[in-house]
Amino acid sequence: MRIILCGFGVVGQSLAKLLDSRTEDLYAQYGIKPRVVGVFDSKGSAVDTSGLDLNRLVEIKKKFGTVKKYANKNANLSGLDLIDDLDADVLVESTVSNYKDAEPGMTHITNALKKGLHVVSVNKGPLALAFPSLMELAEYNQVLLRFSGTVGGGTPILNYAKNSLRGERVLSFQGILNGTTNYILTNMANGMSFKSALLDAKKRGYVEADESLDLDGLDAAAKLVILANWIMGMRVTLPDIKRTGIRNVSSSDIKKAEKKNCAIKLIASCNKELVVAPKEVLQDDPLCVNGTLNAISFTSEHSGTQTIIGRGAGGVETASSILRDLLDIRQEISRNGAANYF
Ligand code: HSE
Repeated sequence: MRIILCGFGVVGQSLAKLLDSRTEDLYAQYGIKPRVVGVFDSKGSAVDTSGLDLNRLVEIKKKFGTVKKYANKNANLSGLDLIDDLDADVLVESTVSNYKDAEPGMTHITNALKKGLHVVSVNKGPLALAFPSLMELAEYNQVLLRFSGTVGGGTPILNYAKNSLRGERVLSFQGILNGTTNYILTNMANGMSFKSALLDAKKRGYVEADESLDLDGLDAAAKLVILANWIMGMRVTLPDIKRTGIRNVSSSDIKKAEKKNCAIKLIASCNKELVVAPKEVLQDDPLCVNGTLNAISFTSEHSGTQTIIGRGAGGVETASSILRDLLDIRQEISRNGAANYF
C-alpha cells in the first residue's frame, strides 16, 4: 500500500512511528505493507518511491522542523505535486483543519479522489464544508473516503454507530465531542475561573492554535456535521449547525446547575435540529464525563440509548484511527479482488 502523507505534525509523526513499529505485525496479521512514498509539510517535502525510512523521517523533522532535509531531491514539492506526480494508492490528509475555505486539505482530497486514490482524512475542514459532495466525488471515482479520526480521535465513535449498530435506526444522538472545552468546564466546576481554566488548558497543549475553534464550538460543530452525514444520512454542512460556544458560561451558571445535580457541558446534538451549545447534563448520566474525555450517546429505535466514552484527539490515538481506516481500505480492496501486494 503506497501512501502519500500530507501534513507531518503530531498526527503524521505518530502515524510514521506507528507504521514503523508495526511493520512485521501488520503484514503477518493483515497482509498489509504500508509504504510511505511521499510526505509534505508546510515547509517542504520528501520522496522515495521505494518507501521512506520513517524513523529517519521523524528524526529529520525533529531536528530541522521540516522533512525537506531528508534528501536533496524533491524537497520543494507541494502536496499537490506529490498527488499529481507519484504513483500511490492512498492519501492520508492531516494538514490543519480550517473552516474558511478548508485549504490546502480540500485541494489535496479532491485531486487525490479524482486521480483514483483512496483518502483517509483526519482533517475536518473539507468534510465540515463539503461532506456530501466529497462523498459523491469518492463514489464517482470508485474510491473510498474514510475519516475515523475526525470524531473521537482513537475512540471508534463513527464505526460504532455505522457498523456495530448496523440495521438499527439511530433516532438521535448527543455528545461531548470537544475535549478542550470539557477540560475547561470541568476545571470551572472545580472552582477555577474561565480565564485560569483556559490558561491551564493552553499550558497543557490542549487548545487549538486558533482558540476560537474550541471555545466557540466550531470544532464540535464540524464533528457534528460529519456524524449527521455519516450516521443519519443527512446532507448538511457547517452553516446548518446552530452554534454557541462556552465563552459565556459563568461560574454561577455552573453552581446553579450543581444544585440540580447537573454539570454544564458543551453538547453537540442531533434531534430534529443540529445544535452545539452548553447544556445541563445530569451528573449520573453516563454522558457526563470529565477532563478531556469525549462521550456520545446514541438513541436507536430498538436498542435504546448507548453511550460510548473514550479519549478524544491526541497524536497516537488519531494515528491508530488512521491505521484502522487503512485496514478497512485494504479489506475493501481485497473484497473487490484486487492484487495481494497491498
Ligand atoms: N481541539 C479538539 C478537542 C481536538 O479539544 O477535542 C481536535 O479534534
